[in-house]
Amino acid sequence: MLEGAVRRIREETNLQPVVGVVLGSGLGGLADEVQDRVEIPYDQIPGWPVSTAIGHAGVLVLGTVDGVPLAVMRGRAHLYEGAGADRAVYGIRVLARLGVRTLVVTNAAGAIDESYRPGMLVLISDHVNLMGTSPLVGPNDDELGPRFPDMSDAYDPELRRLAREAATRLGLEVGEGVYGAWLGPQFETPAEIRFMRAVGADLAGMSTVPEVIAARHLGIRCLGVSVVTNMAAGVVEGKLGHDQVLAVGAEAQPRLTALLHEVLPALAT
Ligand code: HPA
Repeated sequence: MLEGAVRRIREETNLQPVVGVVLGSGLGGLADEVQDRVEIPYDQIPGWPVSTAIGHAGVLVLGTVDGVPLAVMRGRAHLYEGAGADRAVYGIRVLARLGVRTLVVTNAAGAIDESYRPGMLVLISDHVNLMGTSPLVGPNDDELGPRFPDMSDAYDPELRRLAREAATRLGLEVGEGVYGAWLGPQFETPAEIRFMRAVGADLAGMSTVPEVIAARHLGIRCLGVSVVTNMAAGVVEGKLGHDQVLAVGAEAQPRLTALLHEVLPALAT
């Protein structure tokens, strides 16, 4: 299956991407900055799950940014779409076959930490998987990675340092925190957010963790960046909606794109 996807991509380009980037809900800006790019809609790649979430275009973009060969997933499959965790990380495994050794994952998230503000960028330092499953459930494919992969430093401290330095050069304020992964698609209740805070989560979101688990299984280094689109349920008064997530994401997108662009050259080494 993976080989079929690689063959299809190779019909379009010989580029050997070294960095992979997953762009979340309404955060696709970096894809527009990819030079000499080839765009392949997911539904044209054998086996690739097609995402149904609003704000996700569903296209693989291959090209270069500042000379760095990269593969950008514009849009992702979420577990709440129902395809199964191993299916949701198919793209990550294809990127690994293409040569990707470093993965940047982005997402929209709700702030559990009260010092965060909507629009802020937060570097993910670790995660708590509350999704109740893993993309590695089932027989292990030893060609991909070990049965019991290590998850300490799942979010590479050195990559985080490079991202912090890039943010400083840009004069951008970035936070750092633990991402709590929620299955969704319903937002959390206020009680669930209090639970997530109690178990150490600073951010709540519905993606990223399956991808990072799959990437670590493959031995790929990960950098995670959340865009805070809202204060999580019960942290402040008011209701949550996907429209707000998309609107704040759109407002923050130029800052995320600037940060990714600034850090990319350092990730290729
Ligand atoms: N919870 C879960 N996922 C999210 C949120 C949230 O508050 N905001 C954006 N994605």
